[in-house]
Amino acid sequence: MDALVFDAYGTLFDVADLHSVCEAAWPGQGEAIGRAWRLKQLEYSWLRTLMGRYVDFESLTVDALRSTCDSFGVQCTHAMIDRLLLAYRNLRMFPDTIAALRALGGRRCAILSNGSPPMLEALVRNAGLQGRFEVVLSVDAVRLFKPHPRVYQLAADTLRLDASRIGFVSANHWDACGARTFGFRSFWINRNKAPPERLGAEPDNVLGSLTQLASHVG
Ligand code: 2OP
Repeated sequence: MDALVFDAYGTLFDVADLHSVCEAAWPGQGEAIGRAWRLKQLEYSWLRTLMGRYVDFESLTVDALRSTCDSFGVQCTHAMIDRLLLAYRNLRMFPDTIAALRALGGRRCAILSNGSPPMLEALVRNAGLQGRFEVVLSVDAVRLFKPHPRVYQLAADTLRLDASRIGFVSANHWDACGARTFGFRSFWINRNKAPPERLGAEPDNVLGSLTQLASHVG
């Protein structure tokens, strides 16, 4: 493998960080709303791609939040939205993220994420990871969301590598399946021992944490 490409939300950065901000906004329902919001966000990304109605991930994330609040019958003010979008730009890294990146030393590493360019730029900067990745790629460049193959093609084209020379790393099983289907060697980071989806494709490797990557890539 000549390069590793990482998913961002859920893989390098912990979106569960948002639950405490949701709890402050909607006491007693924070985690439930946070989880439902993440699912709605991904659902919208898949539906908009299928319909050919792309909007940037930040706009889609706000729409998903409003829809989730409608479903829970709770208010969603501009102040709440602003606080949650700010939290999205300041997500904590998972405990294994830094150790894994350190263990990978000088290997070519990139990010490929649904996140909009401003979201990703702020997220990487606020985490102190500027310069750690050869490139931070947003699907915004192709106006399609994962797991559309054109998204993974963007990474192969940018890195100027054949798909078979790229290792793709995601904690989102469906994303790892999409990458495998495209032709990357895919790693599913299954921190919580979740059951795999039944999507007709299996990642090449299932790891319990990012720190196991180094031993798999030589
Ligand atoms: C990402 O693209 C899948 O939301 C996840 O970072």
